[in-house]
Amino acid sequence: MIKTIFWKNNTVVLIDQNALPLVEQCVTCKSYKEVISCIKDLTVRGAPAIGVAAAMGAALGAFHLPSLSPEKFRQKFFDICNEIAQARPTARNLFWALERMKKVVAQQNEVNQKRLVKELIAEAKRICTEDIEINRLMGKNGSSLFADGDNILTHCNAGALATAGYGTALGVIRAAKEQGKKLHVYVDETRPVLQGARLTAWELKKERIPYTLITDNMAGFLMQQGRIDRIIVGADRITANGDTANKIGTYALAVLAKEHRIPFYVAAPLSTIDISLKTGKSIPIEERKSNEVTHFKRVQSAPAGAKVYNPAFDITPARLITTIITEKGILRKPYQTSIARLHQGGKR
Ligand code: MRU
Repeated sequence: MIKTIFWKNNTVVLIDQNALPLVEQCVTCKSYKEVISCIKDLTVRGAPAIGVAAAMGAALGAFHLPSLSPEKFRQKFFDICNEIAQARPTARNLFWALERMKKVVAQQNEVNQKRLVKELIAEAKRICTEDIEINRLMGKNGSSLFADGDNILTHCNAGALATAGYGTALGVIRAAKEQGKKLHVYVDETRPVLQGARLTAWELKKERIPYTLITDNMAGFLMQQGRIDRIIVGADRITANGDTANKIGTYALAVLAKEHRIPFYVAAPLSTIDISLKTGKSIPIEERKSNEVTHFKRVQSAPAGAKVYNPAFDITPARLITTIITEKGILRKPYQTSIARLHQGGKR
């Protein structure tokens, strides 16, 4: 199994996603500042993986703090968490994971710093292993939506690399394959950073799941030709009404899916749902540097100084989403109600 991120000898080890698919190598972070850089430069990316990295980064920061009074330790640890929280703005999992880490310190009566640091490392490792279990549950829940022989379209990378392992949207595809269903996946290249071409295609190849790579602007034509049965994507943040932020280009796919009456699924863990926000309008959308659009790696593909707009995510309105697949089951419209029930621990 692909292990995207793990704790080893008091360092955080990450698969270097910027080097894929050409080079398979890991990056070892020895400080929380190095973890922040890896989140910022997309060495580790994908909402759940960012959450796990943030938790491990916070644990690493705590590990390296000098011996302090309990009050000073708490303050320094919270400062570290707040610094990590600045790494990227959109993925809910980043903030969710840091909240969980902060709770360990806030709720602990432990005055022994060494024991508290041990507890923080244990919590970060738990967030990591739980993520894989959650993805497997999501896979089990979502795979019933797929039929043998389906052609599935996916966007960006919501696979093992975007999580601690197994994946959300790709996890559902993996689970369907494990049940013996034969699927074929159309992989959107996903401009400008090519998470589809570089990462999803790499994962599917490793898994021996048949796939065809297309550029983003081909998806509509394929739908018109009747080549796509279902679409499944991951999410970076889902608001209380079901509006979903995901990789730029997702919204256009959802609009096309409606026109062609193709089911459009979102697969995401509960840690991606932000009930504090009523609608997608309030989700902060990250804008990334212009060179992601004007260059690929170091190769320039636009005139020097070209004006660029580079939002990394867009918002798909809830009405365009057929179902949201979670580890607790499949949510249906109205999401306002099904999400609220889920949070109260009731029936969907
Ligand atoms: O900019 P990225 O690569 O972090 O964006 C990732 C996505 O948009 C994924 O689809 C999303 O995080 C879900 S990953 C399970």
